[in-house]
Amino acid sequence: MVVLVGVAGSGKTTFARAHFQPTEILSSDYFRGVVSDDEGNQEASADAFELLHLVLEKRLQRGKLCVVDATNVRAEDRSRLLAQARKFRRAAVALVLDIPESVAITRAGSRADRIVEAEIVERQVADLRRSLDTLEREGFDKIFKLNPADRVEIRRVDC
Ligand code: GTP
Ligand code: MG
Repeated sequence: MVVLVGVAGSGKTTFARAHFQPTEILSSDYFRGVVSDDEGNQEASADAFELLHLVLEKRLQRGKLCVVDATNVRAEDRSRLLAQARKFRRAAVALVLDIPESVAITRAGSRADRIVEAEIVERQVADLRRSLDTLEREGFDKIFKLNPADRVEIRRVDC
């Protein structure tokens, strides 16, 4: 299980699409769209995450790679995901897309697909800062922190 961690606009979806198959990517926005016809509908979050967790469970059970594309900036969100990986004894990797706050806010306000308010991004940035202190102790097998300039090569191994 690969858990992407990053504020709105940090490039999670762009990264996931560049490196993984569509069926491997479990996106909270996609599931918001499935239940409400609107990927940006935050009111649909509870139902969207219920579906995301159900699909995650079915895929982990089969030993399929799962890339969770959601902000995951809060420890409690990640702990639910980690519990699923533990249940099926699957390796869990956190991949943090750590971009400067100013870049995140500029990007969030100038996106073609969806504008995210600066206030929301600021809150997510604060959550992410706190996360960077606790992440090491949460139970991930491996943690990678990436900057936008990093060149990334994904190697798949059985584990
Ligand atoms: P949310 O789904 O809102 O949480 O955002 P996200 O983290 O999935 O970000 P997304 O991949 O949608 O990227 C947001 C915007 O930043 C898009 O307009 C992308 O084209 C742009 N973007 C993504 N990655 C990069 C990058 O590495 N460099 C630059 N310059 N722009 C990027
Ligand atoms: Mg996204």
